Amino acid sequence: MTPEHGRRAVFLQELGVGAIWVRRAAEPVADSGPAVEAASVIDVADLAALASVAARPEPVLPLPVGASAEGAHAAWDEAPLATDPATLPSESEIALMDWPQLQAAVTACRGCDLCRTRNQTVFGSGDRRAKWLFVGEGPGRTEDQQGAPFVGPAGKLLDGMLAAIGLQRDANVYLANVVKCRSADANGADRAPSPQQSALCKHYLERQIALLQPTVIVALGKTAALALLECAPDTSLASLRGQLQYVNQTPTVVTYHPAYLLRNPIAKREAWDDLCMALRTYDQSTDPAAE
Ligand code: URA
Repeated sequence: MTPEHGRRAVFLQELGVGAIWVRRAAEPVADSGPAVEAASVIDVADLAALASVAARPEPVLPLPVGASAEGAHAAWDEAPLATDPATLPSESEIALMDWPQLQAAVTACRGCDLCRTRNQTVFGSGDRRAKWLFVGEGPGRTEDQQGAPFVGPAGKLLDGMLAAIGLQRDANVYLANVVKCRSADANGADRAPSPQQSALCKHYLERQIALLQPTVIVALGKTAALALLECAPDTSLASLRGQLQYVNQTPTVVTYHPAYLLRNPIAKREAWDDLCMALRTYDQSTDPAAE
């Protein structure tokens, strides 16, 4: 079994998707880039599934949707944020912080109303020398309880996605979120942070990126993608997926949020394509001779 096949097997096993992808051995085709994934092993059921993926419009989910709605966001009331400016360092102050200072600033932050309902802030976790950065939208209930990112069900799926491309949390990946405090609706369910909350908190993430200097960023879901790429709120996830984006100079791949994938397993096929793009991008960045 080639490493590519092994990787694919891990991915399929972790994500519970039927046999569909085979990473072809390198073929001497000019300008075709590296060996890429192709649907060269497809059973009948998968063909039907593939057809429905191709025909599927941008998903629109019921509201409120909690974390990573992808296609739509809950309508946030635009009540003023309970900002305490004294606890929200300026952008220029944040830009000078080192890791411990930044973490302390996040812990002390009462810059928006999310601080009122949080149990604790969730700063981010992982290898601070990692070349891979995965960015989610914000902590959910489990993360708020444990103080670490992606430790709930979506995190378990994310671990599988990481394993499929040879990564492991706390070893060679850094995990962060756009906002550092949990956002919940009136019923106590997780929900996406408002654009205002994201904009206030984003400077912390920007400093994390500057300190980390990742080779590749993977934006998990619409909230992360829009915040990182500074897109208008009505930008669709579909318009950002499938082509390399850039956060400043850093190549950035947009994919579905694992919470969305848990609700829509058929989209795991597209997520696999996104992860392969991220892997190719990483390989090319670290070995420009790799095609
Ligand atoms: N969803 C996110 O976007 N981030 C987390 O840390 C957990 C769930």
